[in-house]
Amino acid sequence: MTTPAPISLLLVEDEDTIAVFIKALLEENGDFLIQRAACLEEAQKTLRQVEPEVILLDLNLPDSIGLDTLQAMLATKTTAAIIIMTGSNDEELAAKALQQGAQDYLIKGQSNNMLIIKSIRYALERKQFHHQLLLSQSQMLQSEKMASIGQLAAGVAHEINNPMGFITSNLHTLQRYLDRLTDFMALQASALATHPDQKLQTEIAGQRKRMQIDHIKEDLQDLINESLSGGQRVSEIVQGLRSFSRTDQQQHEKASINDIISDTIKIVWNELKYKATLAEDFGDLPLVPCFPHQLGQVIMNLLVNGAQAIDQQGEITIRTSHQDDRVTIAISDTGSGIAPDKLTKIFDPFYTTKKIDKGTGLGLSIAYDIITNKHQGTIDVQSEVGMGTTFTITLPILQEEDND
Ligand SMILES: Nc1ncnc2c1ncn2[C@@H]1O[C@H](COP(=O)(O)OP(=O)(O)OP(=O)(O)O)[C@@H](O)[C@H]1O
Ligand SMILES: [Mg+2]
Repeated sequence: MTTPAPISLLLVEDEDTIAVFIKALLEENGDFLIQRAACLEEAQKTLRQVEPEVILLDLNLPDSIGLDTLQAMLATKTTAAIIIMTGSNDEELAAKALQQGAQDYLIKGQSNNMLIIKSIRYALERKQFHHQLLLSQSQMLQSEKMASIGQLAAGVAHEINNPMGFITSNLHTLQRYLDRLTDFMALQASALATHPDQKLQTEIAGQRKRMQIDHIKEDLQDLINESLSGGQRVSEIVQGLRSFSRTDQQQHEKASINDIISDTIKIVWNELKYKATLAEDFGDLPLVPCFPHQLGQVIMNLLVNGAQAIDQQGEITIRTSHQDDRVTIAISDTGSGIAPDKLTKIFDPFYTTKKIDKGTGLGLSIAYDIITNKHQGTIDVQSEVGMGTTFTITLPILQEEDND
């Protein structure tokens, strides 16, 4: 069993004797790491350096009185649970303090040891619960957002696919026609070269130059090639959108995660080998119910992202492990890292920092959808600019039946 960590607490109290008394009382009844501030300014200064879990706050301080003290503390954006501990037994003030965000209102001299300790414990539990609530709310919003984007994506992909089909097919026909016309012109040119009428020869050569026929011939070829590669790019995006919306459901089966990773490495090895050495640390894993092809797609994108984030030479490490009812896959790279303000955007569809022909920005949004919606798992990222990035996936070993 592990011993719980001590509770970090900031005691804001101007009177020395009371502060000593409360400190002793807390230390006698629980495991606390206590810091004291004797005025508002000192409390604010402390909060700039440390983030306690609980603040026991006297409202009447030498430099601030009443609810102003609470408001000044809340304005520091502290995440600590604030418990008022004051001398004034004023119900109206107590109600206002609770409305403004205090977790409890205790009165000095009327609160026995157990009441104070209980108040701290309950305040911490309420804070924790509130935090969980906010987290699951934002996760729900995220997955709803993904689902509606998925539907939109499927519709757009379908609409683009048909016209793209005939544009590409027409470009190939144009290419063939151009080859034929070029051959025909070459034939005409060689016939003309042996023509007895010198004047006609010079006139046609002059027209050819003036009308930039040779330049047009070359440029036509380039134009068709560029249009074809643009078409290819659109097809890739459509393909990405289709995977994103998962209109093509695949087999759900029990599979070895380590095998899926090894197979994927073989496929992307060409993209990785010049950039990174690969370290594998595979744990002993049970079979996991999953869509193997989809998981392979996720791993592939994480490996390619890792390699693309490495400028010259680096390392990519893949670790797998098993704890209780989950398996974990962690993919780390020693690449550029991701700035904190970008971390919230990387799972958004079409967010990319890569050159136009390198990334569509769909990789991580597809990965997010596959892991959270199709496998009821989690995907998290930790990154430090200049040091590297780790993506961690967890997958449940037992899943609900409904994972379409
Ligand atoms: N391992 C990583 N290191 C640094 N940045 C990363 C890493 N993985 C993702 N990113 C950032 O997140 C962005 C989005 O990644 P995502 O895989 O969704 O799209 P992409 O790689 O740009 O394009 P695509 O995957 O569609 O080819 C990337 O453009 C990059 O800025
Ligand atoms: Mg990618």
